[in-house]
Amino acid sequence: MVDPANVLIVDDLPENLAVLGRILKNAGHRVRATLSGELALNAAAMEPPEVVLLDVMMPGIDGYEVCRRLKAEPLTADIPVLFVSALSDPTDKVKCFEVGCVDFITKPFDEREVLARVNTHTALSRARRQLEEKKRALEKTLADLEAAQSQLVGAAKMASLGVLTSGIAHELNNPINFVFANAQSCLKILLQLEAVYDLYDSLTPENFAEKLREIEAIKSKVDYQGCRHGLRELLDGIRVGADRTANIVRSLRYFSRNGASHSTGFNLHENIDTALLMLRNKIGKAITVECDYAAVPSVIAQPGALNQVIVNLVSNAVDAINEKPEPHHGDKIIIRTREAQHQGKPAVAIEVIDSGAGMSDETRAHLFEPFYTTKEVGSGMGMGLSITYGIVRNHGGVLEVEAMPGGGTLFRVLLPRQK
Ligand SMILES: Nc1ncnc2c1ncn2[C@@H]1O[C@H](COP(=O)(O)OP(=O)(O)OP(=O)(O)O)[C@@H](O)[C@H]1O
Ligand SMILES: [Mg+2]
Repeated sequence: MVDPANVLIVDDLPENLAVLGRILKNAGHRVRATLSGELALNAAAMEPPEVVLLDVMMPGIDGYEVCRRLKAEPLTADIPVLFVSALSDPTDKVKCFEVGCVDFITKPFDEREVLARVNTHTALSRARRQLEEKKRALEKTLADLEAAQSQLVGAAKMASLGVLTSGIAHELNNPINFVFANAQSCLKILLQLEAVYDLYDSLTPENFAEKLREIEAIKSKVDYQGCRHGLRELLDGIRVGADRTANIVRSLRYFSRNGASHSTGFNLHENIDTALLMLRNKIGKAITVECDYAAVPSVIAQPGALNQVIVNLVSNAVDAINEKPEPHHGDKIIIRTREAQHQGKPAVAIEVIDSGAGMSDETRAHLFEPFYTTKEVGSGMGMGLSITYGIVRNHGGVLEVEAMPGGGTLFRVLLPRQK
């Protein structure tokens, strides 16, 4: 037995309405009765019922038309309509279903049958409404989740940018330090040479011989030749240091807004070198990085995004090596590029191979899932590979992983040459 339903019955004969109404009311349902199609449509529009019992043959708007109009209105389209009729011709019955009814009660009707059909359709329609509400709630949850995920991806990007900027600061510090040290030494030498210069300046025909002796004495004391030579070397060092600083800053264009968001053709190897520069601090001295670059054609990609891919893969490779119980001096990361095929089309392969700890089957199964990490809290978010996977897929490529014989892991990015 379902909870009482709100039922609308439509028939042009008052005695039919009376009989149907009594059966339904006795069963506890709330009943509204109307004597014509027009009245039924008005009643349904004012307060949509849960079920409609509809006579077919009526003067004015007949049952078929009422049903059609109910189905055409979004407010009433989902209400189950049951035709109640003495029609026995299958063609007429089929027509009822064609205009959108869900069921048919043949006159003269049996009270139990009427109730069984009304109850069934009420229950079905309520269940469908509940499902729709659940679906809407699920859709909202999904939208919320997607929004949260994109925020998290953004946060992970910012976190890795934080690590990278500290790496860059470290890289910039070296050349700037020796520019500074060289400038100090230059200043010292200049002060000594200034003394010689001042003596030359004070030369007159009268004191010539005497001053010349003084000049010679001071020149040998300050190592005049050494100073001149040293000055040139120091200035050259300053030039090299400034050059290196400029190169580092220039390479950061991969992280600039414009560079990151547009697909262009660019030099893949320069891009990889930038990633390595940013990670030099993290890679440290114990791990050797070997670059095995083939003469690959330029790829069409977003330079910033590709840079992120390399940074993530190399960063994981470093972690995998450092996680070994006993990292040793032969530990290395090989970065290899070569021409390849992907789905029968020309592609470029970038492989990052490490001599690290490798991974378990469990890790292998969850590798690309957001937030999957085997690292300690605070040292890995588990976002690197899922972001990498997304970037590679957006470029129409694939990301593959293989275990290396003797331990270690290979990650391969296959990018189509033309997008
Ligand atoms: N080269 C690798 N060798 C062994 N295991 C790896 C390697 N790369 C990834 N993994 C495993 O896959 C997991 C997920 O990697 P992913 O880069 O997505 O996240 P993470 O490195 O843990 O954290 P995040 O990159 O967000 O800092 C890692 O925790 C690690 O267990
Ligand atoms: Mg990672």
